[in-house]
Amino acid sequence: MQHADTTVTPLVRDAAEGRLPDWVQAKPKRREHMARVANLMRQWAMELGLGDDETARWAAAGYLHDALRDADPDELRPMVPPGFRELPGKLLHGPAAAERLDGDADGELLDAVRCHTLGCPRFRALGRALYLADFLEPGRTFSPEWTESLRRRMPRDMDAVLREVVEARIGHVVRSGGTAHPETKAFHAQVQAEAR
Ligand SMILES: [Fe+2]
Ligand SMILES: [Fe+2]
Repeated sequence: MQHADTTVTPLVRDAAEGRLPDWVQAKPKRREHMARVANLMRQWAMELGLGDDETARWAAAGYLHDALRDADPDELRPMVPPGFRELPGKLLHGPAAAERLDGDADGELLDAVRCHTLGCPRFRALGRALYLADFLEPGRTFSPEWTESLRRRMPRDMDAVLREVVEARIGHVVRSGGTAHPETKAFHAQVQAEAR
């Protein structure tokens, strides 16, 4: 089973403390965002009573998710698996970072990074939390009152918060038959089904 081994690797241990690999391509403002996402992830993991290793993996996911966000999309496109190669340039950084991290992080963490913008039906708590932390971190200026109210409900109300965020981010695209990635459509369907 892909997710069985969640051993904290040396890279993940370092990333949890904000020490990032030298191949990271992220500008200073981006690194601040990554740190805010990591802080939310750490806070939520602790509030959920997860252990030290699990908390380190959650914080590391926050620090690593945008590791290649400021790389040239033309450089990232050949790195990603065929199923992601047609994505718009801005969305290649998740799958590319997961490829770069393969071998240095566990499968659940890789899935979380790979699909942090698309969503993914394989997400467990870590992937869902990263998807939410990326959107809800307090540096975002989008709809601050709404996002603050959602942050206040985290992490105890994670599944309901996720439904609201997924609906706001991708519900209209999927319903209108727009060009959502298959992972995104499957994620939306999964989250909707949980509401019934
Ligand atoms: Fe991102
Ligand atoms: Fe991000």
